[in-house]
Amino acid sequence: MPDPRRALQQKLADWQRAGLTHLPHVDLSERVERAPQARQSALQPAPAQREPPPEQPAPDRPPVAQPEPPRKPPPELPVTVSDLPRAQREQQLAALAETVSRCVRCPELAQARTQTVFGVGNPEARVMFIGEAPGADEDKQGEPFVGRAGQLMNKIIEACGWQRADLYICNILRCRPPGNRNPSPEEAANCREFLDGQIRTVDPDYIVCWGSVAAHNLLDDTTPIGKLRQKWYKYGRAQVLCTYHPSYLLRNPAAKKPVWDDMKFLLAEMGEEPPVA
Ligand code: URA
Repeated sequence: MPDPRRALQQKLADWQRAGLTHLPHVDLSERVERAPQARQSALQPAPAQREPPPEQPAPDRPPVAQPEPPRKPPPELPVTVSDLPRAQREQQLAALAETVSRCVRCPELAQARTQTVFGVGNPEARVMFIGEAPGADEDKQGEPFVGRAGQLMNKIIEACGWQRADLYICNILRCRPPGNRNPSPEEAANCREFLDGQIRTVDPDYIVCWGSVAAHNLLDDTTPIGKLRQKWYKYGRAQVLCTYHPSYLLRNPAAKKPVWDDMKFLLAEMGEEPPVA
């Protein structure tokens, strides 16, 4: 009599060679050892779920791999509009900033920083800007986007008809990575609780991710930044737009045009118009 375990292994190997990459989760080893009858149902659909002939696949054909389900917003971020009064938002942000100022989760960053750079702006902002991490100027002054990239960002803000204080501005990281290197995934993960706390408290309608580090980390998506532009994503309740980082614009002035297109895309969605020059 053929060894049923061996026959099962053979079948799985055949399916793998045929390109099968996914099976519904079933503890096969346990079923083989303890329930010979159940082994059959683990590999074939239950009779009630089986497609009727002639659509029914041939017995040796592997089941069709299921596509990944669409990404869902993290459950911990509320999807209803916050009704927190301004004073309470200020209080929550101040408490979080105080916690951040004592943070040593990333030993290298904690040791090298002059100070943490939490975030600034309107605690009731409709729009939140998220950058990558503080640079040398931000590390000195304790405020995001105050160096050359920040000055360019200020011009973009003005061109949209806003003032810096209308917005809330922060970064993926709250400490400067030495030598302005990119944040590591561990550093971004360590700081995520603080970023999410800021998003939860400010509860913006819109988030702009400036550059690939912000976009990839917030959205958990590694699509190149140029392909993420001009589309809406969701994070909790907020609509998220991705665009090039202002530092990239300093090196590639030709990218100013697509960034301006992205700002117009945002303004149109908000029902606003850029002021006439
Ligand atoms: N670049 C960033 O991404 N953030 C800052 O705060 C400054 C420069």
